[in-house]
Amino acid sequence: MARRPMMAANWKMNKTVREAQDYMAALIPYASDAEGVDVAVFAPFTCLSEVARMAEGTPIIPGAQNFFYEDSGAYTGEISAPMLLDLGVEAVIIGHSERREIFGETDEMVARKAAKAVSSGLLPVVCVGETKEERDAGGMWEKVSGQVKSVVEVLGGEAGGGSIVFAYEPIWAIGTGDTATPEDAQDAIGRIRELLGELRGEDFASEVRILYGGSIKPENVAQIVAQKDVDGGLVGGASLEVESFARLIEAAG
Ligand code: 13P
Repeated sequence: MARRPMMAANWKMNKTVREAQDYMAALIPYASDAEGVDVAVFAPFTCLSEVARMAEGTPIIPGAQNFFYEDSGAYTGEISAPMLLDLGVEAVIIGHSERREIFGETDEMVARKAAKAVSSGLLPVVCVGETKEERDAGGMWEKVSGQVKSVVEVLGGEAGGGSIVFAYEPIWAIGTGDTATPEDAQDAIGRIRELLGELRGEDFASEVRILYGGSIKPENVAQIVAQKDVDGGLVGGASLEVESFARLIEAAG
């Protein structure tokens, strides 16, 4: 089964509500023309109601950048799956390296969030990736495979490959301008797909979309998304301006 490519904007901690509205208004025509590509916008919580409202009736998938796995309760500062669904949010980034490294999210928390997202009907985009030190020491695969396994182990048996997306984001490539080579992206993502096949069977593995993230730009996107196992991109810096994000969407189609 052919996997539908996805190009996803991760705004990180950027944009006011007004800026989000202007961005969405400008993006909608591009996204509507991009028939073969899923276009997703992962916005900060404060912009989400507007992003989800403006995405309604368009092909844009509105997404959050994080959530907590309990439905409600004494968790000051957190946002739950029912709260996101209430706004019309459809997807959520889980385990971004910035959340793992700056906010101390563990593999166990990431796995619980992924399982909760799937059972709630939110599409999780689960991020995995190694540091420069880990890669230089030959530990890329040990790190990445451990992150993938801990998530897959807790997914319910009924979860199909279409219910989850992975994003391979080598930490040394994020925000540095130092993109992984297309070969390195294919190597890691191909191995993730193989591992998913061992863990959940070939049907699951061939349906799961696996994105690359880390300094994607209009200049380098074509070679990256041309790789056999790479199903699109998760983009920070180059997604903040619609003109540049639109070029990435076009390249993924
Ligand atoms: P950059 O595209 O800015 O390197 O960020 C990648 C990323 O972290 C997307 O989640």
